[in-house]
Order: sequence, then C-alpha cells, then structure tokens
Amino acid sequence: MPCFRGREKGANRGPWQSAPAKLRRAVIKANINCRGGASILAMCICDFASHRNRLNLPFVTTPARAYTTNMQALSVNGNYYEVDVEPDTPLLWVLRDTIGLTGTKYGCGIAQCGACTVHIDGVARRSCQIQVGTLGSKQVKTIEALAQNGRLHPLQKAWVEHDVPQCGYCQSGMLMAAAALLAQKPKPTDADIDAAITNICRCGTYQRIRAAIHAAASA
Ligand code: FES
Ligand code: FES
Repeated sequence: MPCFRGREKGANRGPWQSAPAKLRRAVIKANINCRGGASILAMCICDFASHRNRLNLPFVTTPARAYTTNMQALSVNGNYYEVDVEPDTPLLWVLRDTIGLTGTKYGCGIAQCGACTVHIDGVARRSCQIQVGTLGSKQVKTIEALAQNGRLHPLQKAWVEHDVPQCGYCQSGMLMAAAALLAQKPKPTDADIDAAITNICRCGTYQRIRAAIHAAASA
C-alpha cells in the first residue's frame, strides 16, 4: 500500500505524517463516520505522499499566506494617518470607516449630492469621488475641524442663529462648501452662492443657507 511508505523507518515524513495531529484525528474520525468524501480525501493525501517519495521530491513548506499591505498616507485635520486600504478606496470610506470621522456623510456616492464635501488644500471636493491614493501630501479638512480651539466657525454660528438644519443630513457638506466659498470670496453674491453651493438638501433649506452665508460674510 503506497500510503504506508511514510511510516517506514527512516522514510521522509509525508504530508499525512506532517499534518497536525488534530487534522489527522479529524480526518480519521470523518473517515469512520462517513466512508465517502473523507475516504477520498485521505486516499488523495496518501497517494500524493507515495508519488512524492517515488520521485524523491523535497517537501516545500508553504509559508502562511503573506497579505500585501497597501499603506496609504494622508493628512486629515492636521493629523497624519497611515491606513491599510487599497489606493483606489474613496476618501469618504477612509474618513468614516477607517479613521472614524463620521461627520462627513455618504449620500449618493456619485458626486451629485455634496453630503460628502470636504476641503482638499482648501478647495471643496466630494470625497466619495477622491481616491485616497491620489492625495499625496494634500491636506484634507473635514467638518470636525471647522470649529477651531473650541470656537465655532462664523458659518456655524450663523447656521445656529438662522436655525438652518432640518434633518441635518446634508448640513456638514453644506457648511464645508460654504466655508470654502467664504475663504475664496469673503463677500459672495447670490450668484456666487448659487454657483458654488450645488449641494442637495432634501429638506429644502436653501433659503436659510443663503441667509446664513450672507450673515456670516457680514459678521
Ligand atoms: S455622497 Fe458624495 S456627492 Fe453624494
Ligand atoms: S437638512 Fe435634511 S437634507 Fe438638508
């Protein structure tokens, strides 16, 4: 029986003998309980051992599977992060799921709603469409860093004063879009606001957003 070769004195240990005792016990037990699949499995192991011995092939130890790491570096709100994600992972996913900054919201995932708006080097961008591997040394800023040193951004104050949010889901994206606008144009006109704030609010808070932006601009 070829499958006993591995038991001969001095013979190389075959896969069956090299297998952990726990696995061998499990196969034997399964073999007793079920003479179908388990028998075939045991026969295959023994058969392979016999061929290996006949051809005098060395055993090759397969190392534990080495998972490739895809460490991506990014700077968010002044902090440096290294995250183990694929380079084409959307920034939004990294912010929310990997780093844990959940103030930035997922709305549509196709660059339409603006709920995911963050600043990249000061420019309002939709993070659902930014691949984290493309960021390089660019600085990402999220809604969590809009207030500084415990002081609300003028827009946040105006948002409170004008009671802007309803459900609130779109508002972090709205605020980030508005903040980028004010940084670029401290006194925006209605036309500037219309051109810059293309975010969608399902609750229809557009008029209050406009009023709050004007209020913050003149504060
Ligand atoms: S989730 Fe990014 S634009 Fe809607
Ligand atoms: S406040 Fe509800 S979606 Fe804008």
